Amino acid sequence: MTDQISQVISNGELTAGYWRIVFRAPDIAAAAVPGQFVHVQIPGLKDRILRRPFSISSVDKTAGTVTVVFKVVGLGTEELTKVPVGADMPVLGPLGNGYAMREDKTPILVTGGYGSASTLFLAECSAKKGIVLMGARTEQDLILVEEYKALGFDVRVATNDGSCGHKGFVTELLDQALKDTPDGVIYACGPKPMLYALGKLAIPTGVETQLSLDQHMCCGVGACFACVIKMNDPESPDGFRYARTCSEGPVFDATEVYYE
Ligand code: FES
Repeated sequence: MTDQISQVISNGELTAGYWRIVFRAPDIAAAAVPGQFVHVQIPGLKDRILRRPFSISSVDKTAGTVTVVFKVVGLGTEELTKVPVGADMPVLGPLGNGYAMREDKTPILVTGGYGSASTLFLAECSAKKGIVLMGARTEQDLILVEEYKALGFDVRVATNDGSCGHKGFVTELLDQALKDTPDGVIYACGPKPMLYALGKLAIPTGVETQLSLDQHMCCGVGACFACVIKMNDPESPDGFRYARTCSEGPVFDATEVYYE
């Protein structure tokens, strides 16, 4: 993990409400693995002490660059869209544990909303190309579809309103994907309710399932406990313990998670 001043290479709108920023940070690019994140001090923000966490979407180790795809959801991300090319931007990373890559198995990526920004890095690094089950509220919230296709992945879409692909939840596509991929391993990133529903569906199948459980974060390095989540703990009277998603996660095996 390093804390370095990166230089912004490009920053532009990917599609309505979603942006892609590329910055030069050679040490982070060299060390990063899929599923990790960076903690960015956004220039222009008044509360400059508070950094914002972003999943790493892509890395070019040769060029020493890191790509982040983000949704504009508040003041921090709004300010991030305004950072000009050439600006210096302090970035801490790579942080978190990342996915445990199973190179002998075929990846089934399950994403919700901008969770597909996180698993793109995994798709890039995976020798085997598999299936992406991509869920969104509506067609406008589907991002990076062409990037996954260009990498050789079979993209299957579900939207809540039926504006593209299957009408309903992305988890409803899991059964067929598992039938089509007998040697599959599931990697997932998205909203917590989606990930919990997925975990409950996947555990009885016996297929290894890794969930990236991003929570609201503050310090990003395990010091403040702002990001805790409940994990199974048979030795605890309550049956669970708290784990910090920033330092012990954000990726957890589905069987470790305490489902409420
Ligand atoms: Fe501080 Fe995780 S954000 S412990």
